[in-house]
Amino acid sequence: MDIATLNETARALVAEGKGILAADESSGTIKKRFDSIGVESTEENRRGYRDLLFTTEGAEEHISGVILFDETIRQSSSDGTPFPKLLESKGIVPGIKVDTGAKPLALADGETVTEGLDGLRERLAEYRGLGARFAKWRATYSIGDGKPSEYCVWVNAHALARYAALCQEAGLVPIVEPEVLQDGTHTIEESAKATGRVLQAVYTELHDQRVEYAGTLLKPNMVLSGYEASTRAGAREVADATLECFYKHVPAAVPGIVFLSGGQTDEDATAHLNEMNSLGPHPWQLSFSYGRALQAPALKAWGGSAENVEAAQRAYLHRARMNGLARSGAYSPEMEEAVAA
Ligand code: 13P
Repeated sequence: MDIATLNETARALVAEGKGILAADESSGTIKKRFDSIGVESTEENRRGYRDLLFTTEGAEEHISGVILFDETIRQSSSDGTPFPKLLESKGIVPGIKVDTGAKPLALADGETVTEGLDGLRERLAEYRGLGARFAKWRATYSIGDGKPSEYCVWVNAHALARYAALCQEAGLVPIVEPEVLQDGTHTIEESAKATGRVLQAVYTELHDQRVEYAGTLLKPNMVLSGYEASTRAGAREVADATLECFYKHVPAAVPGIVFLSGGQTDEDATAHLNEMNSLGPHPWQLSFSYGRALQAPALKAWGGSAENVEAAQRAYLHRARMNGLARSGAYSPEMEEAVAA
């Protein structure tokens, strides 16, 4: 393992003013996204939609890396350029989702364990050959009714660390993604407690399994009140609770924390990140690895129609720019209206 190279890649992914586009929706998830705009999920529609995102001019000023799905890393732009090559030519680092999904955890009611370790060494070697320089593995946890259980917390931490060690062996930066789902009626304190327990287990396993923190990135949830809670914390409270949790549980040797958006509105995801960065500097870069919060307006503007490609690209570029500004606390909500006007 060449830790210096892994550290260089990790730092490039959290370069100033930039973050990651998560475009690694599995076949099931992208179908759900397409269903929401009445577009059929065919291979060509999926390719065309990703092509629209990846060919957006100027996105590279705010986007450091893109996470691809197995199908997408093998597809090409309309001019025949393979997607990983297209991204590289813009200075964007290609990455790949390598887990095979969160599956019901045996003997645990309503909890999941993420699968995909069997044959992973061989798959990582193939993805590296296809141009990937980093990878992602997502574990999920729910809050409430005794969840997350210690059982769920530790089996997922163990699997995340096994994945991360294999990535580093293969020369890929592992993005370690433990997502504590923020659905439900929980308080922000309950979210902080669950997120802290999950992070503590993840860093214990990463350490025990010899993973070099300097060659990793963390992709966590923000600490929020549940989406269905009767009162919900505002941006400053979210920033304070999230930072307090991460200062306690994430080693300073980790180069960057790239948050997922996890169902927040686009503007909340940007405002929360902005607030945290305005309270900096912090031991790690605080950035984004958003799926929905970068793509939702673009998906809607596109609606599956070729004549809307430019409008969709403008919508994507706008969100990329706003989140790029949130990397340094330079965003304000008035910037949204200025564009809408
Ligand atoms: P969201 O930002 O839509 O939560 O997606 C990020 C992601 O990659 C989830 O695994």
